[in-house]
Amino acid sequence: MPKFAFEYLDSATGRELGLQINRDALDAVGFMPGILQGRVEAELKTSFLGQTFDSPFGIAPIGMSGLIWAGAERHLAKAAVQHNIPYSLSSVAVASPEDVSPYIGNNGWFQHYPVNSAELRRSMLPRIKAAGFNKLIITVDVPQESRRERQRRANLTVPPKVDWQTVASMAMRPAWCLAHLREGIVPRMRFFDDYISSRGRQSFTHAGALIRGCPDWQYLRELRQEWDGDLIVKGVQRSEDAKRLAEEGVDCIWVSNHSGRQFEAGPAVIDQLPKIRAAVGPDMPLIYDSGVAWGLDIMRALAKGADFVMVGRAFQYAVAAFGSKGIDHLVHILRADIQANMSQLGIEKMGQLNDCLLKD
Ligand SMILES: Cc1cc2nc3c(=O)[nH]c(=O)nc-3n(C[C@H](O)[C@H](O)[C@H](O)COP(=O)(O)O)c2cc1C
Repeated sequence: MPKFAFEYLDSATGRELGLQINRDALDAVGFMPGILQGRVEAELKTSFLGQTFDSPFGIAPIGMSGLIWAGAERHLAKAAVQHNIPYSLSSVAVASPEDVSPYIGNNGWFQHYPVNSAELRRSMLPRIKAAGFNKLIITVDVPQESRRERQRRANLTVPPKVDWQTVASMAMRPAWCLAHLREGIVPRMRFFDDYISSRGRQSFTHAGALIRGCPDWQYLRELRQEWDGDLIVKGVQRSEDAKRLAEEGVDCIWVSNHSGRQFEAGPAVIDQLPKIRAAVGPDMPLIYDSGVAWGLDIMRALAKGADFVMVGRAFQYAVAAFGSKGIDHLVHILRADIQANMSQLGIEKMGQLNDCLLKD
């Protein structure tokens, strides 16, 4: 992929300390191996938010995914159904909900960034539902754009600027260019773009920035009343916030720091999980993401209190490397890694992971 697309995907904010903070804390979560348990076949099927998935992980929302690889959203949606895992479509993806709808079956979750008018929001919600997305994720950790220096240096601007640097980096990646030519669409945020053009604004502006609003508690309350499906709040790190969200009647809390893309001086997300679990009690569904690179990381998050784990960048690297085959390969690697590590612990159920944690 061209440098600007890679840097967009791979970078984090500031000095990128957030990435390392998450990685170090994940690595510090250890387990005690167990022996003489006979044949151990880990049960990976997971019931979560009223559905049974084949694996305890799914695909996190990634804006402009179709820029990373042409048609990435379609490839990911198809693979999610095939492997029976959830796929979250970002509101600032290249593909619209209608583009993905024919492929997503019952496994589609839609990610919503707060918009700047209630009227606009109310017109979006039925559209999302009609396209077959049964769970709504509201992302609350992006009060405004963050600075990602590598992305800036690679000249990825919004709206996109075509200059010698971007042309040169595309020319060096003919397979990426061909895939886009075959797809036949210019990468743009098709969902948000529809609302911009209907308001007489030029398409190919940065739709997200033009209609994005700031998340606040009142916004969340209104959304809760308007959306009758499962409502998931993504980007939670403080246990007080999690407790208040539970009181507001949300269905699920997604513990995440956007993998260091928004703020780099916060805590490691994995260390917040047990505190949030303690604050909301055993019954509130909790998702973890940020920094998952192995099946073992998924086990770490489940052991620390998550019910389900979402994976962001890894799925995009996979689709950019090998298209839909890359997605299958990644699912295989993650599942095989969980199976192998669970057998080292001598356990078959995810619920037993917490008991195997190394204690201080
Ligand atoms: C390139 C990129 C774009 C992203 N776009 C969105 C987005 O549109 N909406 C959102 O809620 N999160 C977005 N995220 C955050 C992911 O959903 C997820 O929280 C994070 O990537 C998980 O960490 P991981 O990449 O280490 O697995 C984005 C992340 C990346 C890397």
